[in-house]
Amino acid sequence: MLRSFKKRDVISIRSFSPEELLYIAATAKEIKDARKKDSLAYADLLLGRTVGVAFFEPSTRTRLSFIHAAHALGGHTVGFSSNDGTSLLKGESLRHTLEMIVGYGADYLVVRDSHDGTAQYAADFLSIPVINAGDGKHEHPTQTMLDLFTILEFFGRLDHLHIGFAGDLKYGRTVRSLQAALQAVSGTTFTYISPPQLQPPAGELQHLERLGIQYRVSDNYESVLSDLDVLYVTRIQEERFPDKQDYEKVARTLQLTPELLLKHAKPTLRVLHPLPINSHKFPEIHPCVATLTVPNTDKQYAGYIEQAANGFPVRMALLGLLAGKFGTELQEPPAQPPYQRKATLESMTVTPTLREANRVLGYIENGTVIDHLDPDALLAVVNLLGIPKDKLVIFGKNFATKRAGGRKGVLKIVDYTPTTDHLNRIAVLSPDATVNYIRNGHVVEKGRVVLPEKIEDIMECINPGCISRDSRESAAPLFYTQNRQRLFQCHYCDTLITGDNVRLR
Ligand code: CP
Repeated sequence: MLRSFKKRDVISIRSFSPEELLYIAATAKEIKDARKKDSLAYADLLLGRTVGVAFFEPSTRTRLSFIHAAHALGGHTVGFSSNDGTSLLKGESLRHTLEMIVGYGADYLVVRDSHDGTAQYAADFLSIPVINAGDGKHEHPTQTMLDLFTILEFFGRLDHLHIGFAGDLKYGRTVRSLQAALQAVSGTTFTYISPPQLQPPAGELQHLERLGIQYRVSDNYESVLSDLDVLYVTRIQEERFPDKQDYEKVARTLQLTPELLLKHAKPTLRVLHPLPINSHKFPEIHPCVATLTVPNTDKQYAGYIEQAANGFPVRMALLGLLAGKFGTELQEPPAQPPYQRKATLESMTVTPTLREANRVLGYIENGTVIDHLDPDALLAVVNLLGIPKDKLVIFGKNFATKRAGGRKGVLKIVDYTPTTDHLNRIAVLSPDATVNYIRNGHVVEKGRVVLPEKIEDIMECINPGCISRDSRESAAPLFYTQNRQRLFQCHYCDTLITGDNVRLR
């Protein structure tokens, strides 16, 4: 699907279809070719417009290429390159800082931060398009756009390539975004090369299995290098290790050397790297690889300098597309159907037997019976609902049921009707629970709780790096579910939380 790019946020590479990524690459190619002939090509596209550039984390390539792209299109920039020199050091929030940039007239905001999910957070409260220039270990979508552009330049295609990802596959955001984009391309095979401590999160590998994508994992180059078309090496992200000793254990474990390439690599292999290479401690690519050529040819293995340079036309293309100056033939995306936000009960039949059931065990005149509760969640439900003990007529978790597990929890609560918030909370903790309303001694209505598609303010993200965990900011926890599955996806950082790992607020 190909939708208009005008005024879209660029938060995750997942929000762009393969066709859209090819469209961005084609636009960048047009710009790159045109500027080779005329260095002023497209020089008035952003006349009168301003790009906000807020980098709370260091950057050379992303920041400079965005600034250069904005200027080359005739626009202005306003912003900063680090926290130093801003009032963040006086305790100001990131939110206020970004609102100031918009107040000074920014039409687009490019933001980088060390938290996972900052770009989404910013997009939620700003009215201008937000471009994610890297958020913690989460995503770096514009890097992926230039990576894809570079692969297309080298190979003429994206499909049926064997891509090796090497280095920090746990904390590296560029790998995360690039592999997400390539998952949608046919015939892609992945090989992950890293010390065991830095392998991709298990959930991501399970996701590949669900998609039927071929992958394998290795801790060395020797056994896998010969199969690869592209080797995408990444720096070990020292700054993201909670424990620096853990970093030291892996800092010197993997290095791509000329010997390895000459012995094992295909002559057509291209080595990419988002850069920077860590040349202080133990460069993940030996410096001599930069000029190493394939035997008997003048073709280099290393493609990372051209790759970095491609950031300029790709970011020009992206800014031009967001401004609506390219892709004018494309349609605005249709409005998304609203998420089902309110808790609902899926109505169940009240049989004559059920109607009288309240009379058998712990009769109450008016109130609610919450039945079929997960026994392990019972106590949490009681605590969450804040039910005073004197209102609980029955409170037990060893009632027999024909459903799986054979045991269920039941709560019988006098003079109580669940609020919408309570129904949501019950659904999050125990999605099979049923709710019976008792009036004048009879069950008058019964329903099964429905897990909402959008869950606000009930649970917190388990990712300590998520922006929603930063108490200085106002990113209210928000999760999405699909198909009533108890698998919760964080709105900001995309962390998937299974039912067993739910942490309530
Ligand atoms: N690739 C990349 O994001 O580089 P910088 O950190 O220098 O922006």
